[in-house]
Amino acid sequence: MKNNIILIGFMGVGKGRTARELADRTGRFAVDTDDLIESMAKMKIRRIFAEHGEPHFRQLEQQTADWLEYHVTGTVVSTGGGFFQVKNINRLGRVVYLHSSVEAILSSMQAHPRAKKKLKKRPLLKSLKDARKLFAARLPLYRQAADVEVSVEDREIADVVASIKDIIR
Ligand code: S3P
Repeated sequence: MKNNIILIGFMGVGKGRTARELADRTGRFAVDTDDLIESMAKMKIRRIFAEHGEPHFRQLEQQTADWLEYHVTGTVVSTGGGFFQVKNINRLGRVVYLHSSVEAILSSMQAHPRAKKKLKKRPLLKSLKDARKLFAARLPLYRQAADVEVSVEDREIADVVASIKDIIR
């Protein structure tokens, strides 16, 4: 098993923020799969979806997972909300599912000072109804893909990071 920590979970749950804090506390680097895809494709995620469609984006996620599997170790990896569906997810490292209720995720995103930007950059968050449906469909799949689950709802980031550190020790 590779010495990476792979954070999975729904859009807006705080995977990137948690990865950066966890990296800081464990002396690792943090990388984000959406950032890797944007630099590889030289295009923003929103444009990849608009110009090439979701299936193409999923292929780029798989390419990214293959690169991580062969080249990356000792790293905290935050992922896009659908990345867990790559075929080699469990070969990339310990998979940690960050859980929160969908209502808490949606209301904290809407309350964010840059809410408009956060919603705009996520093509799958166009309607709240669809977001709730997607969450319900994915919840069992996140749990199936994960080695461990950590709840983030109503918790300080330092507390969440401490829990993850305990679990992965
Ligand atoms: C997606 C989540 C997004 C991004 C893309 C698709 C998804 O990442 O990868 O818009 O399928 O849930 P975040 O989880 O960082 O928003």
